Amino acid sequence: MASRLPEPGADERAHSDRLLRQLREQIAVHGPMPFSQFMERSLYAPGLGYYSAGKTKFGEAGDFVTAPELGELFARCVVHAVAPVLAALGDEADFLELGGGSGAFAAAALRAFAASGVLPRRYLILEPSADLRERQRERLAALPAELGARVEWLDRPPEQDWRGVLFANEVIDALPTTRIAMKGGEVYEEYVALDGEGRLMRVDRPADALVAGAVRHVERDLGADFPEGYRTEILPQLPYWLQAVAGALEAGLMLFVDYGYVRREYYRAERSDGTLMAHYRHHAHADPLWLPGLNDLTASVDFTALAEAGNSAGFGVAAYLPQAQFLIASGLQEAFESAHAQAADEAARYRLAQEVKRLTLPDRMGERFQAMLLARGIEALPLPAELLAADQGDRL
Ligand SMILES: C[S@@+](CC[C@H](N)C(=O)[O-])C[C@H]1O[C@@H](n2cnc3c(N)ncnc32)[C@H](O)[C@@H]1O
Repeated sequence: MASRLPEPGADERAHSDRLLRQLREQIAVHGPMPFSQFMERSLYAPGLGYYSAGKTKFGEAGDFVTAPELGELFARCVVHAVAPVLAALGDEADFLELGGGSGAFAAAALRAFAASGVLPRRYLILEPSADLRERQRERLAALPAELGARVEWLDRPPEQDWRGVLFANEVIDALPTTRIAMKGGEVYEEYVALDGEGRLMRVDRPADALVAGAVRHVERDLGADFPEGYRTEILPQLPYWLQAVAGALEAGLMLFVDYGYVRREYYRAERSDGTLMAHYRHHAHADPLWLPGLNDLTASVDFTALAEAGNSAGFGVAAYLPQAQFLIASGLQEAFESAHAQAADEAARYRLAQEVKRLTLPDRMGERFQAMLLARGIEALPLPAELLAADQGDRL
């Protein structure tokens, strides 16, 4: 596995070894840990996890590229789609971004809001990683003062009722996922244990009632049991997580963009080892135990599960559609033409064309990523008519 991956430097290895020591100690004391806990430690252990430590992560110099890192078109389209909703909610409406990454989305979105004439009262960012918060602060410090003054970082989801728009790009794929295996008709959960030489290894243990119940719910919904030996992921905590982040959003819209599928595509029999992926310097690989802390770990999103979680929290699905259709229905053509007209040179125009391709081509982000809009407490939702017309919510 590791042989075709770029060789980490001595510093990187030492960093991963520190996290590895912590993980080993924890397993030695408490016994094997659920894979979800291993993923949580690998990504968020203070100072050592992938998102908590100082790695570059985003962009060409990092491990992966997200839509906001490609340029400003993605954020301009999101703003085009949601600005009328903010306007309809009035002067008190806020915009809350979950998982702000490098701050690229927030910077572009605030500029686009200003250009549209509809600014949120506050631009809130809920970012668990102290390192990323710092980068976001640095990036947003370059904004004009009247925009920068609207930005606030939250330590926890809003507890007071609020109105506005909640947005998250590639956040649900970073939630620590539970891995399950089917054996003899029973549900097992993957744990991370130590082998005789102290190396990390995955083992299966009978699943507890929460995990088994979540798996049985999916099987019932699909009308078929998972086959013997089937391995996959599930997020039993998703309804609780959504309730925690959006429970106080009394009127407004949530927009989630992520890679994923509707349930019957996610849990296809052929996808017999799930969707879990590790990313290291633009190389995707399948060994989540390799050099913990240096790899991004992600799993695709079951959008049917997200719709269910939204419904239980009191939100209705306003639209569900592939990213390409979402962006096209949200003014991509106009955003491209205006950026093209203002581009400084041929190289900038070329970059814009590449950006559109990466955002929309089916084998890039266009169809692998989906957009889901969930709403509550608004009578007539002022979303672009093209967006509502392109809704594929019946596929959920
Ligand atoms: C793959 S990155 C995406 C970053 C950014 N949205 C983008 O598109 O470039 C995942 C982000 O989600 C954040 N995150 C992870 N768990 C979170 C949670 N429970 N609530 C809010 N943000 C979270 C991470 O720290 C990171 O900023």
